[in-house]
Amino acid sequence: MGKKVTKAIFPVAGMGTRFLPATKSVPKEIMTLVDRPLVQYAIDEARAAGIKEFIFVTSKGKGALEDYFDHSPVLEQELRRKGKTELLEILKATNMESGAIAYIRQHRALGLGHAVWCARRLIANEPFAVILPDDVIAAETPCLQQMVEAYEETGGNMVAAMEVPPEAASAYGVLDLEEDRGSIVKVKGMVEKPKPAEAPSNLAVIGRYILSPSILRNLNKMKEGAGGEIQLTDAIAQDIGTSNSVYGFRFRGQRFDCGSKAGFLQASVAFALARDDLRDDLSRYLRDIVQLDKAAE
Ligand code: UTP
Repeated sequence: MGKKVTKAIFPVAGMGTRFLPATKSVPKEIMTLVDRPLVQYAIDEARAAGIKEFIFVTSKGKGALEDYFDHSPVLEQELRRKGKTELLEILKATNMESGAIAYIRQHRALGLGHAVWCARRLIANEPFAVILPDDVIAAETPCLQQMVEAYEETGGNMVAAMEVPPEAASAYGVLDLEEDRGSIVKVKGMVEKPKPAEAPSNLAVIGRYILSPSILRNLNKMKEGAGGEIQLTDAIAQDIGTSNSVYGFRFRGQRFDCGSKAGFLQASVAFALARDDLRDDLSRYLRDIVQLDKAAE
């Protein structure tokens, strides 16, 4: 039912204030989990889902992010000369095809909805994905790929959804369910950052979306929503009840909120523990500090 999704928008124009002072000069999305910047995880996930065009919505001060996608012929040559084939392969795997990446500027951080709207001319009249690189998802099948497979059945609009404790719901967009089919839920309402008593469920939206181009038309006439920002959630909610239904997708995997310091640290530990070259040293260290902690009690 759903058309093929080949374009993805990566909104990276936010100010990343939770990581000041680092984000004075380092874009949040270039910060590394172990040895790969957040944006590389996002690109790899998009590629696995069949995305061919990568549209970054950037802002002032994000130069390092744009540079990251340049090829590095001098470095590659040097690694080849020194016979460092493994590193060379790692480096080459990050190379993007010429013309696959586009950068669009968001002149003021007016909100996620506004950032997506800035890319409207590059999307034209096709469904598209949105990936927030600061939501990192560890999963056997990458999250967006799971969604693309589900979207082939549903069409419409699809948002990644995750159960959260009631007290945490006010930090997210929350779904009001019409029908729960298990991994796919049909949505009859969406509320951005509800007050605890007003959350319609405990199913929260996280940073993966497959959207119909109608969302861009909805954004054309958007006004400020929660927090004075132009909210993507509000524009998606406008499609409810039209022929472009809205679905939530319960993905299989673990999501880390790398936009927050605690989430970023947890992801760093989890990704390091998943690596053969780091697991032993790190787990020994972690065990030692837990034991010291217990001894001090
Ligand atoms: P966040 O709410 O995490 O904001 O945005 P932020 O600016 O990145 O970080 P803090 O809260 O100041 O620490 C969620 C995503 O939406 C993008 C951000 O870049 C991030 O990927 N965004 C947000 C935009 O591109 N433009 C905006 O106007 C707002």
